[in-house]
Amino acid sequence: MIIVVHFLLTKGLIFLTNAMIQDVNIKDSKQFYINVLGCKNITFEHFIVSAPNESPNTDGIHIGRSDGVNILNSEIKTGDDCVSIGDGSKNLVINRVTCGPGHGISIGSLGLFKNEEPVDGVTVKNCTMANTSNGVRIKSWSGAEPGTCSNIHFEDITVTNVSSPITIDQKYCPWNKCKINE
Ligand SMILES: *[C@@H]1O[C@H](CO)[C@@H](O)[C@H](O)[C@H]1NC(C)=O
Ligand SMILES: *[C@@H]1O[C@H](CO)[C@@H](O)[C@H](O)[C@H]1NC(C)=O
Ligand SMILES: *[C@@H]1O[C@H](CO)[C@@H](O)[C@H](O)[C@H]1NC(C)=O
Ligand SMILES: *[C@@H]1O[C@H](CO)[C@@H](O)[C@H](O)[C@H]1NC(C)=O
Repeated sequence: MIIVVHFLLTKGLIFLTNAMIQDVNIKDSKQFYINVLGCKNITFEHFIVSAPNESPNTDGIHIGRSDGVNILNSEIKTGDDCVSIGDGSKNLVINRVTCGPGHGISIGSLGLFKNEEPVDGVTVKNCTMANTSNGVRIKSWSGAEPGTCSNIHFEDITVTNVSSPITIDQKYCPWNKCKINE
């Protein structure tokens, strides 16, 4: 199946199987560009998004509860995470993706909710981060609910002007929101 642009109306790819999303350009989205939920075997290629550095919560691609997502040869400029990887993401490949500005590629945040599914099998390879606050990151909430994150590979990542190239934060606590969980 080849999907062109119609899905952009909803910005959510929900329960989609065996799809290829190619040659898409998006500019200045409000909030997440694409939310991928419950999908299987889908590939993004030449997916170009841009938003200014100061735009809040404009994650490029958010993935959750999906198996076999590939993001290839893409370019993501945003004010938030380039790709954010939520619970239940399995067999995800991110290859030849350029991020920046923004917050880099992030697994999590995990552990905010009960019964989150494991993150298993993430490969981020041959990617470039430029002008981002983080490079690659794993974050779980302070006082997190039980959960796991395994088989994670970050390989051949080039960082330029990145404040924290590699971060593993097990006490993620933005805006002091986690205090109630401790
Ligand atoms: C995965 O999706 C692609 C379309 O992008 C299709 O050609 C391929 O056969 C699918 N693979 C499997 C294992 O179903
Ligand atoms: C990494 O990606 C660049 C393009 O972004 C490509 O020219 C290069 O061959 C790739 N390297 C590997 C080892 O795949
Ligand atoms: C980083 O940001 C500076 C200042 O905005 C810009 O000149 C430069 O081209 C950016 N670098 C990359 C690789 O995007
Ligand atoms: C570094 O990146 C920041 C954005 O994160 C940008 O404002 C700044 O101009 C960049 N500096 C250089 C030297 O590219």
